[in-house]
Amino acid sequence: MNWQELEQACSACTRCGLCETRTNVVFGVGRRNADVMFIGEGPGEQEDLQGVPFVGPAGKLLDDMMSIIDLNRDNSYIANIVKCRPPRNRDPQEEEQAACVDYLRQQVALIQPKIIVCLGRIAATRLIRPDFRITREHGSWIERNGVWMTAIYHPSALLRDVTKRPETFDDLLKIRQKMRELNL
Ligand code: URA
Repeated sequence: MNWQELEQACSACTRCGLCETRTNVVFGVGRRNADVMFIGEGPGEQEDLQGVPFVGPAGKLLDDMMSIIDLNRDNSYIANIVKCRPPRNRDPQEEEQAACVDYLRQQVALIQPKIIVCLGRIAATRLIRPDFRITREHGSWIERNGVWMTAIYHPSALLRDVTKRPETFDDLLKIRQKMRELNL
């Protein structure tokens, strides 16, 4: 599938129950040949209303976090594990993630990023390892098929608990370091 076909398939998707309550499918935003991809969990209220990922309070913080390492919505790509809002912002269920993640994999295949940053536990356990422990393993790296992957705390977690912010600052610097190593 090319971008247009993929986006059309997503906008008409009825693979899981989230299609019944969504306002908009939140496909993704950013540069379609980005070196760095950020992947969150699923749209919240503002994202559902606007059809754009990370535009609520957590999104503002994500923009600030990215800017620390000279990244933004024009030079990176931002997407989620599920493209439709789970009601009342509950975690996306296993079946919902399984139904949706193939769209994300196709986005990754089209973008061919060099670095994937998982935002929070849901993305890390889905994309890195089912038993990934975000509290212990944030900021660690694995390489898979030539793509470097890491996970950092979700910006919503950093809004709830500011004591996690210094660790995340260190993790962001590690991302910048990895970009330098890869000449990005
Ligand atoms: N939280 C997420 O994980 N994704 C969004 O797009 C917004 C908030």
